[in-house]
Amino acid sequence: MNLAIIGTGYVGLPTGVGFAELGHRVVCIDKIPQKIDDLNNGKITLFEDGLEELFDKNRKNGNIRFTTDMSAVRDADFVIIAVGTPPHPVTKEADMKYIHAAADELAQYLSGYTVIATKSTVPVGTGDDVERIIREKNPTARFDAISMPEFLREGFAVHDFFHPDRIVVGTESEQARAKVRELYDVFPDKPNILFVTRKSAELIKYASNAFLAVKIHYINEIADFCERVGANVYDVARGMGLDSRIGNRFLNPGPGYGGSCFPKDTNALAYMARKEGVDLSLVEATIAGNDARKSKMATRILDVVKDIPNPKIAVWGLAFKDGTDDVRESPAVQIISELVSRNADVTAYDPKATETARAILGDAIKYASSAAAAAESADVVAVLTEWPEFKDMDLGKIAKLMRNRNIIDCRNMIDSRQAAENNFVCKGIGK
Ligand SMILES: NC(=O)c1ccc[n+]([C@@H]2O[C@H](COP(=O)([O-])OP(=O)(O)OC[C@H]3O[C@@H](n4cnc5c(N)ncnc54)[C@H](O)[C@@H]3O)[C@@H](O)[C@H]2O)c1
Repeated sequence: MNLAIIGTGYVGLPTGVGFAELGHRVVCIDKIPQKIDDLNNGKITLFEDGLEELFDKNRKNGNIRFTTDMSAVRDADFVIIAVGTPPHPVTKEADMKYIHAAADELAQYLSGYTVIATKSTVPVGTGDDVERIIREKNPTARFDAISMPEFLREGFAVHDFFHPDRIVVGTESEQARAKVRELYDVFPDKPNILFVTRKSAELIKYASNAFLAVKIHYINEIADFCERVGANVYDVARGMGLDSRIGNRFLNPGPGYGGSCFPKDTNALAYMARKEGVDLSLVEATIAGNDARKSKMATRILDVVKDIPNPKIAVWGLAFKDGTDDVRESPAVQIISELVSRNADVTAYDPKATETARAILGDAIKYASSAAAAAESADVVAVLTEWPEFKDMDLGKIAKLMRNRNIIDCRNMIDSRQAAENNFVCKGIGK
């Protein structure tokens, strides 16, 4: 099958590489010339575990190519739109300008029957807009505009591409459904495809992400309660998770959810509901509580050094989670920004996300090349991202480097026995 993917970012690139690996002929289109030049020169533009190897192989064997030229959709049987849908700075609704532009730009090149699948996370009714835009620009085009939301997790994009929990497809067109089956027929483990209406598919994505955000915020609030009453949130979560109606996933307490999806999608869903006069109070409370949590974490860090003159804070972790260099809406970056606004002296280390964080935080903080280097002369280490290497840290060595031995472990990564043996005051979450 000939597949064109518009938008070569965290979704578009792994999706394109994955379909190429399974034998489809893929062209990835992006409007950023530098990105396309890099990809054509064999330089991968984002970090995802296992992606580079597949990218190299499929670029060299010609299964995937990269271009800025939208006319490349001409040969495609199937077009996937995977452009960004960032939040509006004021209203926080999803900004549809890239989706509308992509639909407008591709319309003139359609030839033969083509499925146009929107993978970006888009408000309910966007499929109608995409269809209308294409129809107005190219009245004779033969196409179906369908919804095919993406559920991959950053950091696990390659794994999730090959082993999706489900493929949700919104279309009532039999011809489009047949094309979707053909697209996924190449998978060795046939994915479970759920066909629904276009609007239902669009809403499934938001309803899923908001539900996960609520679950995270819920366990964070329970963690706060555990700290107050002397319970252990892990015992509580384990006990809850054994109930199959609840399940044990997403019950990890932390500094609040972040990333390019949960904050954006909860806000966009709340905006849509308000506009429709529907009360989504649970989602609204989650958004407000999660925002406030970052400040609470900053206060927790500053509190342990409040009696130290000119305290130095080491931060371990900048990415919004491990396995990615993505810092969009990263709790670490938000907590650091708050620390900086309160005049703190911060040195941060992240194994992958230093450069992406530097683009946001600039010179407001210092950047270290290792966790140990960040900890040098520090009065507290704040663990803000769950990179596995922080679990295996030699705390004896770190202790010798620091001025004062404090750890605020917002990811519960640190071995408390080792911390105690090395005379650290170590405070985790919910225990
Ligand atoms: N990142 C994730 O983990 C994830 C998971 C599920 C769903 N999503 C959704 O997928 C969508 C894409 O997310 P992302 O993280 O890949 O975004 P991204 O910003 O990494 O990539 C989007 C790309 O689209 C390109 N683009 C924009 N307009 C274009 C146009 N007209 N023609 C060609 N290229 C264009 C941009 O240059 C950019 O490279 C969003 O709606 C997001 O909510 C993301």
